[in-house]
Amino acid sequence: MKNTLVRIASLIIMVVSFIAFVAKAPAFPIPSENLLPWSVWFMISLLVNVIVWFPVMKLVSFALGVIWFYAFIAGLVPDTSTASGTVTTLDWTDPDAVAEIGLAIFNGKGQCAACHTLDTSAPKGRCPDLTDIGINAANRVPGTDAKTYLIESLYDPGKYLVTGYGKIMPEVWKNPIALTKLEIEAVIAFLQSQGGEIDPNPFDEPIDRAKAETTAEALPPLLSGDPEAGKKVFIEAACISCHEVTGLENPKAGEGNEDFEVVTAPELSEIAAFNELRYIEESILKPHAQIVSGYGTVKVNAKGITYEGTLVSQDNEKIVIRTKAADSTEEEHTILLSDIDDEPIEDLTNLIENGYSTLTLTPTGSDASVSGEIVEETEDTVTLKVGDENQTLSKTDVKKQMTLTDFDGEQTVGEHVSGTIDDDEIVIIVDGGEESFDPFDIEEAIIAFAYGKRLLVKSPMPDNFPILLTVVDMADLLAYLSTLTGETATEETAPTDIAEEVTE
Ligand code: HEC
Ligand code: HEC
Repeated sequence: MKNTLVRIASLIIMVVSFIAFVAKAPAFPIPSENLLPWSVWFMISLLVNVIVWFPVMKLVSFALGVIWFYAFIAGLVPDTSTASGTVTTLDWTDPDAVAEIGLAIFNGKGQCAACHTLDTSAPKGRCPDLTDIGINAANRVPGTDAKTYLIESLYDPGKYLVTGYGKIMPEVWKNPIALTKLEIEAVIAFLQSQGGEIDPNPFDEPIDRAKAETTAEALPPLLSGDPEAGKKVFIEAACISCHEVTGLENPKAGEGNEDFEVVTAPELSEIAAFNELRYIEESILKPHAQIVSGYGTVKVNAKGITYEGTLVSQDNEKIVIRTKAADSTEEEHTILLSDIDDEPIEDLTNLIENGYSTLTLTPTGSDASVSGEIVEETEDTVTLKVGDENQTLSKTDVKKQMTLTDFDGEQTVGEHVSGTIDDDEIVIIVDGGEESFDPFDIEEAIIAFAYGKRLLVKSPMPDNFPILLTVVDMADLLAYLSTLTGETATEETAPTDIAEEVTE
């Protein structure tokens, strides 16, 4: 009698725990602690059943055990269908469940597991192990808390690089990984759960998805090309005139090129080891977008002298420019930013893009000019840092200035009233009083809406490759460049895999 009770009780527990396990019910009896998940209840009752029942029921129990075993194994394998399915809501009343979704994305759609391990005993690869990242994140950047650091790591991984690691991590919110905001929230919860405390507070994305979409569209999709053909393109399109690659010979070495001036350029033998394919593609299609430091060219006027050359370095106070004389002798010049001359600006659109850093203008209706560093601009306004505060000024309600230079080089600047160099008279207001000039005495008259210091850094790399190269050439070229990892065959981790993943 007692035996029968035990048998029936354990049978019931076994069946119930099996169903609860399959239905993914929260652990029993303490749901949040994951203390005794249903799989543990199931195993205990299975054991009891196999011991206490007569042979036929032993077999039935065993069969159920086998089914459970497969279900359990399947549960351990990341479920890519839920990972790639879109997350539509997150239930923050249960942060652990959110972290669970984050884990699925980590292993699935996010492709994080392709690079990152969660096991300190794993061999140190090209990407940091993320064990205890929930707590380590708080100590990476002074003054940045864990969550802010994690947000930055995912949206702008290149901004702060973990010491010893290269710029390989993709911006996971962009194509091809393209995590949504909710997915990133879940991933962050998961990362915080690794040794830290999950912070369920909402955050604003530090990016503008709408804007990124338009720029992403501007780049053609990555196609898979033929690396061997790409090597030929690299030689024929004369990339090799400027860029060295170990083991690749320039058939026209020392010959120069009629289409462009050959300049010193970065060595590309390891370009794919530390850069995403998207970056490499952008380097070719839009060379001015991101310029490798130390290679950009600039033209500045300082104290009346024009310097044109390579921008060697730059800080908050000065720049160093290397110029090359006609006889090829090189010279370095250190120029204080405060010595850079104010240039007249005839067109106030895209000031920042055109390299202006400061601005002086006189708003209509005011007699005094306003000067400051350019903080921000829109189509119609510009915000200047004047002293300690920001002032937003209209770009259209601005007094027109005129700079007159006579034949002795003498300059007069004033508010323009009337006349140009082609008229009989030019009238400008100087020091509050109108003055009239005879255009006959004037060598140059420049009208400007503002004055500003300009430091426009450009890439010396030709920007006409998008026109010169066909889509197929471009795909082949990228396929070739993605093989340039500086790797020897003995090394384990093959970054070419990463490049190919990005291609897909
Ligand atoms: C192609 C490889 C790659 C992929 C894919 C990748 N990462 Fe990374 N990740 C890196 C590298 C390399 C670093 C170190 C350099 C840096 O800080 O950017 C890094 C850094 C990090 C850091 C900072 C680590 C620290 O110790 O401070 C976090 C957090 C992180 N990744 C999370 C993720 C998550 C989450 C995903 C998936 C959504 C992901 N990564 C996908 C390569 C990758
Ligand atoms: C006139 C010389 C010149 C030619 C020709 C040229 N480049 Fe460049 N390239 C440069 C210079 C200088 C830089 C560094 C400045 C910059 O970032 O734009 C550069 C940067 C790059 C970078 C980024 C390197 C890095 O370390 O981040 C890549 C990739 C690149 N070039 C590929 C190519 C390819 C492919 C071609 C042929 C289709 C080519 N270049 C032709 C001069 C040249």
